[in-house]
Amino acid sequence: MRCAAVLTAAGSGTRLGHALPKALVPLGGTPLLVHAARGLVASGVVDGLVVTAPDGHLGEVASLFPGGRVPGSDVPVRVVRGGATRQASVAAGLAALDDVAPGCDAVLVHDAARCLAGPDLVRRVVAALEAGHRAVVPGVPVTDTVKRVVDLPGGGARVVETPERSALRAVQTPQGFTRELLERAHRLGAERAADETRAVSDDAGLVESLGEEVHLVPGEAAALKITTAADLELAERLLSSS
Ligand code: CTP
Ligand code: MG
Repeated sequence: MRCAAVLTAAGSGTRLGHALPKALVPLGGTPLLVHAARGLVASGVVDGLVVTAPDGHLGEVASLFPGGRVPGSDVPVRVVRGGATRQASVAAGLAALDDVAPGCDAVLVHDAARCLAGPDLVRRVVAALEAGHRAVVPGVPVTDTVKRVVDLPGGGARVVETPERSALRAVQTPQGFTRELLERAHRLGAERAADETRAVSDDAGLVESLGEEVHLVPGEAAALKITTAADLELAERLLSSS
């Protein structure tokens, strides 16, 4: 199986509130997106990488990959301009897959914000693809009780239901797909993009709307998503203790 990865790094990081776009923020002195790229490549199962960069930062992102390679490896990298939404960024990345891994038949989609996702996790996702699953997500059990709510017209919200917690998983990236399925899911996603209410927050969600099965593999604590300053502090601690 020939496998390429799209690393989404084009977001602005509004909730983190740093002067730099989130993917360029340093963790232990190294930008988040470089940590994420290294984690993918350390798995030994990724043949090429497309990075989606924030508008206005393409040169800066490209300079993190001297010679068009992930540092310390010979894995080729192509930097493309991301879109206005994560979904549009992934679509831009998919359009460049053949530049880094011509003819690849599997794709991982990974968030630079999950910068400490490790090589074992990446291999677990790819192994499930190799075993014949066409869409694979890592997930971890949920510790909070989760409620479904509806917003009320006058403000506030009302609880509608409490899903059984044991049946819930918080999903992470990298998510893995056969290329054919992910490209088909994104074509559907592009058609629906105009209708915000149907927007989905991950690639597996698009695949689910096609009625296709999505397989779950165990996630890992290290693959936490850096969203706020507190998450960045936690990641700093994880990095220095590893
Ligand atoms: N992303 C992207 N293109 C966008 C929006 C997000 O490539 N238009 C990427 C981000 O860079 C990040 C991942 O998608 O790696 C997950 O998004 P999120 O954690 O929401 O990051 P940001 O959008 O940057 O943060 P915020 O929502 O707080 O602004
Ligand atoms: Mg965002």
